[in-house]
Amino acid sequence: MHILKNIKNMKSSISIITVSLMVFFFFSCNNEKQADNASSAAPSTTKKDSAADKGIGKFTNIRLTHPLDDSMVVRGKNIYDSKCMSCHKLSDEKLVGPGWKGVTDRRTAEWVMNFITNTNVMLDSDLVAQQLMVTCVARMPNQNLGDDQARAVLEYMRKNDGKN
Ligand code: HEC
Repeated sequence: MHILKNIKNMKSSISIITVSLMVFFFFSCNNEKQADNASSAAPSTTKKDSAADKGIGKFTNIRLTHPLDDSMVVRGKNIYDSKCMSCHKLSDEKLVGPGWKGVTDRRTAEWVMNFITNTNVMLDSDLVAQQLMVTCVARMPNQNLGDDQARAVLEYMRKNDGKN
C-alpha cells in the first residue's frame, strides 16, 4: 500500500517522462523538432533547454562569422569524411547518430563545440546529450578533435544548413 501511494504521488512526473520517452521512441532521434511539437500538450523542457543551452565545457561564447570561412568549411568536410561520416548523415536521417541537417538550428554553436570536444562529460551530465543517447541507443565515442578542428566542423555544419 505504501509503495502504491508513493507511486500515485509521483504519477504526474512519471507521466511527463513517459510521454517524452514515448515521443522520442516514436520519432527517431533526428526528428526531435517534430517530437517537441507533438508533445506540446505535455510540458517538455527539451526545446527551452536547446534554445540557449551552451552545454558543458570551455566554450561559452563562440563568435560566428559571416560570410562562412571557406577554408574552414573545406577542413571541416575533410574531418567529417574521415571521422564522422560513418555515424552521421548530412541529411536529417539517422544513421548511428542524428543526421546533421538542422543541427546548427537546434543547438547553439557553444553546445556543438562543447559536445565535440568534451563528449564524455556531456554524455554523462548534459540533459540534451543524455536524451540523444536514449533515442539513439548508442554512445558517441570521443573523436579527439582539437579546438580548431571542432570549429572547422561547426563551419561545415553551418554550410550544410545553408547558412552564409
Ligand atoms: C561511432 C559513431 C559516431 C561517430 C564516429 C561520431 N558520432 Fe557524433 N554522435 C553519435 C551518436 C550516437 C550521437 C547521439 C548522442 C549519443 O547517443 O552519444 C552523436 C551526436 C552528435 C552530435 C549532436 C547531434 C545533435 O543532433 O544534437 C554532434 C554535434 C556530433 N555527434 C558530432 C560528431 C562529430 C563532429 C564527429 C566526427 C568528428 C562525430 N560526431 C562522430 C555517434 C557518432
